[in-house]
Amino acid sequence: MRVRLELTNHGKAGYAVRAPRSLVKGRRRVVVRVGQREVSVHCSSGPAQATLGLSPALMAKMHLRRGMRLHARFDGRVLHIGPLVGILVPATTGLPNPVGNMTLGVRYFIEQARTVGVYAFAFSCSAVDFKRGQIRGYTLSSGGEQSRWVRRLFPLPDVVYDHITYRRRDRAADIRKLRARLTEAGIPFFNQGFFDKWDVHNRLMNSPHMQPHLPETTPLSLEALQEMTAKYRRVFIKPAQGSLGRNIYILTRSPTGRFEFRRGRGRASRQMLNDLSNVEAKLARLKKDHYIVQQGLELCRAYGRAVDIRVIMQRTQHGRWAVTKIFARVARRGRLVSNISAGGKGLSASRTLRRCFSSSKVKSLIREIRRVAHLVCETMAENTDGHLGELGVDVGVDRQGHVWVIEVNSKPHRKAYDTLEGRPTAKRSFRRPMQYAAYLAGFRI
Ligand SMILES: Nc1ncnc2c1ncn2[C@@H]1O[C@H](COP(=O)(O)OP(=O)(O)O)[C@@H](O)[C@H]1O
Ligand SMILES: [Mg+2]
Repeated sequence: MRVRLELTNHGKAGYAVRAPRSLVKGRRRVVVRVGQREVSVHCSSGPAQATLGLSPALMAKMHLRRGMRLHARFDGRVLHIGPLVGILVPATTGLPNPVGNMTLGVRYFIEQARTVGVYAFAFSCSAVDFKRGQIRGYTLSSGGEQSRWVRRLFPLPDVVYDHITYRRRDRAADIRKLRARLTEAGIPFFNQGFFDKWDVHNRLMNSPHMQPHLPETTPLSLEALQEMTAKYRRVFIKPAQGSLGRNIYILTRSPTGRFEFRRGRGRASRQMLNDLSNVEAKLARLKKDHYIVQQGLELCRAYGRAVDIRVIMQRTQHGRWAVTKIFARVARRGRLVSNISAGGKGLSASRTLRRCFSSSKVKSLIREIRRVAHLVCETMAENTDGHLGELGVDVGVDRQGHVWVIEVNSKPHRKAYDTLEGRPTAKRSFRRPMQYAAYLAGFRI
């Protein structure tokens, strides 16, 4: 039995709850659970269908407030109120902008959570007190559009959404320790960590259905460069843990047998090389990273520029993968990487593809892109420990209309569309992870 309820005041001393009879079936004692906190309480039932009365002591104990709209489910013993979702952020910075430059994005998550009856708050690693079973975090006061940030205590949540958005923080000892303790405490979390391009390639290669969509990829070595440049006119050299198009290099074989060497972004200098033996020495030295060599794709072009397609895939409240957003990225003039941060532009996918293909071909291409993106998500989920709630899938379409997977991102940037402007896809991209969190918490909302 599960229902959506408004929390109201129940004028009783001690821990007491008044719940709809249809939910608690006349039980006199129940265990009320919020997040990981459980309290045995006196229970009375009333005819009201849409409210749940909590005594002031219980309200305080559970750090809940009157007027909240949440869900409740009852399994015959435990009355679980929630879901309570913690958004783990790299650091908090105090009021009035508690999550620094991520404050606006986190606000959208919390607002969207509220619209579907999910109670969400942001917290940093250091704010978790496992001994007392509580977290000091930040949420929004009730009050619609005008809601302000407030600092509050919360019980340990039902689920944690891992929103550590940069690699350095992700590797830090305290974050790793927190994850271990969450696991110990049986608190599920999702979207943990970052991917390594070589590792992703291998995970996807596990699926025979994926193989035709994966450009040939190998770890960097002189032999690999020789072999790949003999096979393909152009190869991409990419840091396996890179992002934003940074430190990408491109080698193109010329008709004379020499090689043009250029950077993907930054100053577009080009050098001609007679042989490949000093390529490695020209790459930026990376501390904890290594490079891969990848078959260069002859991507379709629009406005004379390389195009690729970003598909934002997210899991829904039913736990199923769905396309939240799909858009084309068109490289800056003269560039071969289309990342927005490298001057690329986000545009409508079908309109952009229509510059290279007929309208009917574009329709079938979009279907194919969606199919491949689903396949990527299912294959990644099967080959990943832990829960994946969202993925950014970069695909390319070559001039023959074949769809290739260029890269899979575990933390797709929301920059390109994080101003809401009433656009439903933008809101949805913040709502879905909160709905998926509810699903992981066992709430069917
Ligand atoms: N094999 C390839 N063939 C053609 N273009 C590519 C290839 N690999 C990358 N690119 C271009 O470079 C961009 C950045 O590459 P990507 O692998 O996504 O690295 P990053 O993690 O830096 O975004 C892609 O969006 C695409 O425009
Ligand atoms: Mg990319």
